[in-house]
Amino acid sequence: MHEHALHPVPAEWASGAKITADRYTQMYAQSVADPEGFWRKEMQRLDWLKLPTQIKDTSFAADDFRIRWFADGTLNLAANCLDRHLAERGDTVAILWEPDHPDTPARQLTYRELYEATGKFANLLKNRGVKRGDRVTIYLPMVPEAAVAMLACARIGAVHSIVFAGFSPDALAGRIEDCASTVIITADEGLRGGKKVPLKANVDASCDKVRVDTVIMLRHTGADVPFVAGRDVDWAKAVADLPAECPAEEMNAEDPLFILYTSGSTGKPKGVLHTSGGYAVWASMTHEYTFDYSPGQIYWCAADIGWVTGHSYVVYGPLMNGGTTLMFEGVPNYPDYSRFWQVVDKYQVEIFYAAPTALRALMREGDDWVTRTSRKSLRLLGSVGEPINPEAWEWYYNVVGDGRCPIADTWWQTETGGHMITPLPGAHALKPGAASFPLFGVQPQVVDPANGHVLDGATEGALVLTDSWPGQMRTVYGDHERFIQTYFSQYPGKYFTGDGCRRDADGYYWITGRIDDVINVSGHRMGTAEIESALVEHDLVAEAAVVGMPHDIKGQGIYAYVTTMDGVEDTDGLRRELIAWVRKEIGPIATPDVLQFAPALPKTRSGKIMRRILRKIAENDVGNLGDTSTLADPSVVDDLLKNSPHAK
Ligand code: PRX
Repeated sequence: MHEHALHPVPAEWASGAKITADRYTQMYAQSVADPEGFWRKEMQRLDWLKLPTQIKDTSFAADDFRIRWFADGTLNLAANCLDRHLAERGDTVAILWEPDHPDTPARQLTYRELYEATGKFANLLKNRGVKRGDRVTIYLPMVPEAAVAMLACARIGAVHSIVFAGFSPDALAGRIEDCASTVIITADEGLRGGKKVPLKANVDASCDKVRVDTVIMLRHTGADVPFVAGRDVDWAKAVADLPAECPAEEMNAEDPLFILYTSGSTGKPKGVLHTSGGYAVWASMTHEYTFDYSPGQIYWCAADIGWVTGHSYVVYGPLMNGGTTLMFEGVPNYPDYSRFWQVVDKYQVEIFYAAPTALRALMREGDDWVTRTSRKSLRLLGSVGEPINPEAWEWYYNVVGDGRCPIADTWWQTETGGHMITPLPGAHALKPGAASFPLFGVQPQVVDPANGHVLDGATEGALVLTDSWPGQMRTVYGDHERFIQTYFSQYPGKYFTGDGCRRDADGYYWITGRIDDVINVSGHRMGTAEIESALVEHDLVAEAAVVGMPHDIKGQGIYAYVTTMDGVEDTDGLRRELIAWVRKEIGPIATPDVLQFAPALPKTRSGKIMRRILRKIAENDVGNLGDTSTLADPSVVDDLLKNSPHAK
């Protein structure tokens, strides 16, 4: 029923927005028919050192594969975020920082202060031998120094690789090793919801496994942590006497800007590589149009910098656009469930952008936590990271936004660099739960997952993109073949998103979720293969299979089937131990919600695990197991059903 609700564009948006309905239609048509002309204009939102003359040079064809945008242009992204704003808005606040606990003093940095902090830190990196092209790992909590570290890397042409501060030492070590970064930037501890996160201790533990020459540590909580002479550097002390001026490297548009590891359906996480020019145009353009953003507006994206949303929409997008971006260290439910809305009131936030999982968790606690706050400053809401169910959408719209604020349900991926499919508040009537329409230059297609046939009109299938856009990732770091294999081999000549999607009769796109072996837990991508390999690394585990299951708050939960070694007793104690093991191996976000012991897993005669059956059992959709006759041993399924937690 909800799906049929339609919220028309409010009158003030229809006339006053940057992108109105007519403008969207006209710009979209041009972006597809005349990409050269379209991007030649859009690229001028940046300060180029050398203005590109080559605009789009892309092909997804196997024998002619290339993705190059603005390829003869040069620029520096940090200069685009900082230097060019100094004259006009040096004293404007660039970053508002709200700490974990409301009683801790808040901080703010003007564009000039951020410029100076970045210059000093860039000089420190140079003093420690970091050069253009070197990889630098950042493992920091949500503090302004995280933005400083990113911008300092960009300033000197180093490639940052941010690792979410919730990942374990093992996961951190793997990412350090993969990109061979010898410099790590961290803090003594992080703070989230009143709990301390031992960041420096985690870094020390991962340094036992990989070669690291320099650890730069921010003193944040002031905890007493071990310090390794020669290797460890105290951030504040080290920059104290360094100059704030640091020349910005002239980077080619196609030079790497950052690597961000993300999970796929197979193997270990891959290093998604983004380059400078195209990413910058994309992050800046999408931030401006999706949020109808103009400098002066207080804007808050509640994502962590450890994820791509934090890269594009906490740091780069808003700063390129001369905005004021709020960085929040804490969590939505600490000290209480009003925290988000108190922060909105405190700073008079106009644009608020968060993940559905947080909204669902807050929705459960009742409206009073929201309605006791004003929220009058809000004018636009955003949603990101996973499908938003219509109930959560309506709650967000009616309770949080008082029925006044359009919602941008932004579909995109680490790989896309920025928003791809989203309603624009001045252009599109909203349907709760629909990602709606493609942004400029984005050419979605729905294909039959079985054979790749293009499906027209109102339909459902796999979502592919038929042409490149500037923000597209360029490669998997160190493994270009894997890049091609992962994204362009399924449906030759097209980029496969991994998502399923429905297009309705009005042309709205609805993302239905992953159709590969990736699960989306609280808006975070987890590869089932990664969790399986963590489980089988345990001495008592012979085999494991992991699938997603529906979860009221998280969207999807993690359901693990585990076969233990011969002679091992499957006890509750062992179950707890294995769950704790996965937390330790990967991090708390990978904690299995259900762990079922299985004497055997359902396999075909050729030995392939039939995940379809495991998914159905996890979903408790057991009336509908489908054909099990091809199983090597169909009785395995009976045992799984009998021992499923749903059966109890
Ligand atoms: O399945 C889609 C889902 O999140 C995946 C991308 O995850 P990640 O690379 O971690 O990036 C998250 C932040 C962009 C997608 O393949 N997803 C993301 N946004 C939406 C979504 N699913 C439905 N609706 C969305 N708005």
